[in-house]
Amino acid sequence: MKLLMKRKKIVENEYLEKQVHKLNKIGIALTSEQNLDKLLEMIVWEARNLVNCDAGSLYIKKDDLLDFVVSQNDTMTKRLGEAKIKELFKTFSLPITKESVSGYTALTGEILNIPDVYEISKNSEYKINLDYDRRNQYRSRSMLVVPLKDNENKVIGVIQLINALDKAGNIIPFSGAMAEELICSLGSQAAVAIKNAQLTKDLKAAYLDTIYCLSEAAESKDKDTGMHIQRVSNYSVALGKKLGLAERELELILYASPMHDIGKVGIPDAVLLKPGKLDVEERKIIEQHTVIGGNILSKAKGPFSKISKEIALTHHEKFDGTGYPNKLIGEEIPLSGRIVALADVFDALINKRCYKSAMSCDDVIEIIKKESGKHFDPKIVTAFFDSYKEIIEIFEKNKDTPLENSTKI
Ligand SMILES: [Fe+2]
Ligand SMILES: [Fe+2]
Repeated sequence: MKLLMKRKKIVENEYLEKQVHKLNKIGIALTSEQNLDKLLEMIVWEARNLVNCDAGSLYIKKDDLLDFVVSQNDTMTKRLGEAKIKELFKTFSLPITKESVSGYTALTGEILNIPDVYEISKNSEYKINLDYDRRNQYRSRSMLVVPLKDNENKVIGVIQLINALDKAGNIIPFSGAMAEELICSLGSQAAVAIKNAQLTKDLKAAYLDTIYCLSEAAESKDKDTGMHIQRVSNYSVALGKKLGLAERELELILYASPMHDIGKVGIPDAVLLKPGKLDVEERKIIEQHTVIGGNILSKAKGPFSKISKEIALTHHEKFDGTGYPNKLIGEEIPLSGRIVALADVFDALINKRCYKSAMSCDDVIEIIKKESGKHFDPKIVTAFFDSYKEIIEIFEKNKDTPLENSTKI
């Protein structure tokens, strides 16, 4: 008997050691994921792996509500396929009250380990909402609801794990203190990672806002360009995606492209705002906005400085070498400059400017086709047509109200 107990203890210790090792590895993975959406998915995935269960959801606290942000369910994914599950998944918000299991945990900070949610006592403060089961023909049985507490012990969210499985795939209750402790530790690491990722996301949004504002300030003389900067930046990302650029490169383009015309600050109003045709000298002055922009941005030291300088300097170069300021040819023009060149021209053509009316989509398409290999890199023209639907959506979503005055660059 004693020997048996000893053996059981050894097995338990070995299991615990393995799980702690896993937990450490998960902790490292969580802290290195900065994309909030991916991080949230990863948390549920790792928690489910740690205690072996069929499904899991994650809620994030936002003011007085719990936002339902992630849902994973192996049984349903097998039955309906991943695409259908994504379609079914709808985010919603719950009030933080004791009535729901996740609300209860968010409010009290307590862990709930329920062997069968259909057997919750009628006298219990919390109830289970069976809508999910009914809608999806699913049977939730065992459930582990754990708060995500940050380093100040504040609950920032709730993880809800459903249907623990034994080795044979049978639903069993979550294994008491062991599962609770494991998910609790993961929850604390997850909470810190979520807070960091949220902070990064907020900082990036603030940074992008600043870039838009500063770039718009440079364009402010050019009153009818309105949302031009946001549109060009978003078209450029859509083109980059089609060209297969990595996420980091797309991010660089998103932040750097709004500054393509920042050099306009250095162009005298008499030239920039001159009504009617410009003479050769005035054209030369206006073309200098590329060089001025490149110079301004070469003083920046941040992660986007190299690419913003590149874009400001080369967004008027043409693929056949007839552009300005350096008459670069083909791939001598950096890819970012070639992308923004098309995005910028497309937006100028499709929008009404005070010196010209908006062109029809058909006419714009004709021009872009005709300019493939001349003004534009053919590869980017292909990416443009492949992402045309998304580009038009960006245009529709960010329309502006034209005012007076407009420059011609
Ligand atoms: Fe420009
Ligand atoms: Fe522009």
